[in-house]
Amino acid sequence: MRSEDEGPDTGELLRLQDVRKVYGRTRNSVEALAGVTMGFQRHTFTAVMGPSGSGKSTFLHCAALLDRPTSGSVLLEGQDLTQMKERALTKLRRNRIGFVFQSFNLLPALNVVDNVTLPLKLAGKRPNRRLVDDVIERTGLTSRRKHRPGELSGGQQQRVAIARALVTQPALLFGDEPTGALDTQTALEILGLLRQAVDTGEQTAVVVTHDPVVASHADRVVFLVDGQVSAELDRPSVEQVAAQMTQLGAWARARRSAPSERVR
Ligand SMILES: Nc1ncnc2c1ncn2[C@@H]1O[C@H](COP(=O)(O)OP(=O)(O)OP(=O)(O)O)[C@@H](O)[C@H]1O
Ligand SMILES: [Mg+2]
Repeated sequence: MRSEDEGPDTGELLRLQDVRKVYGRTRNSVEALAGVTMGFQRHTFTAVMGPSGSGKSTFLHCAALLDRPTSGSVLLEGQDLTQMKERALTKLRRNRIGFVFQSFNLLPALNVVDNVTLPLKLAGKRPNRRLVDDVIERTGLTSRRKHRPGELSGGQQQRVAIARALVTQPALLFGDEPTGALDTQTALEILGLLRQAVDTGEQTAVVVTHDPVVASHADRVVFLVDGQVSAELDRPSVEQVAAQMTQLGAWARARRSAPSERVR
């Protein structure tokens, strides 16, 4: 179900070009991203890893248009989004991007169906019954349609969040530690849903994770340290990911004990 204007089913969907993000304007400003350049092929699953504070969330927020970079470009199908006005950007974000958070972020007063269809309503669209049913079915929530988030387990709540992210049929699906609050088995089920969206749906996924098992299901793992890409692994094993994390952790600790040049 790919729309024709998405072009052929190959090539790059998203590109970050020399993206910098500086928080704050005073002498205490922090450079969270220090020039990140990275491309994302269509229908691939990328995991982003790195020590705490390495810029993973900032990276995701810039890539998902939730935040604007201080400099550099974010290109979607070749179009530079950093030049777009806020209104156009909001519309594009609603139509083309799904985002899943660690903390689910569901509305407690709404039942499953109403939570899932909320993005369509916010975009002023009438929910397509068949599509909504399909997304709810795919995420295994059919028997929970009328339940509220408080009546669901953590894993079920994250399924609702994924259904809500998929209901607009976005090209890009982002997750900031979407399995971080779940036990290993539940995390793998959620991961399976994200993987399925990439393999059989129309999505390209970029997911931040601390878990080498989760990362080992990705097509590519990108490692950030101090706001820069420090390594990339293609289809790595759990052991390769864990070894890389250990190496980076040691390096990041050594950097931290030296006088920091990143706090300006
Ligand atoms: N809104 C903000 N204002 C000021 N500094 C910020 C802000 N958000 C993030 N930072 C800083 O930017 C750097 C990167 O933060 P970021 O949240 O992207 O890291 P992270 O890799 O996601 O960490 P974690 O694994 O702990 O979630 C950190 O030094 C953080 O303190
Ligand atoms: Mg983070």
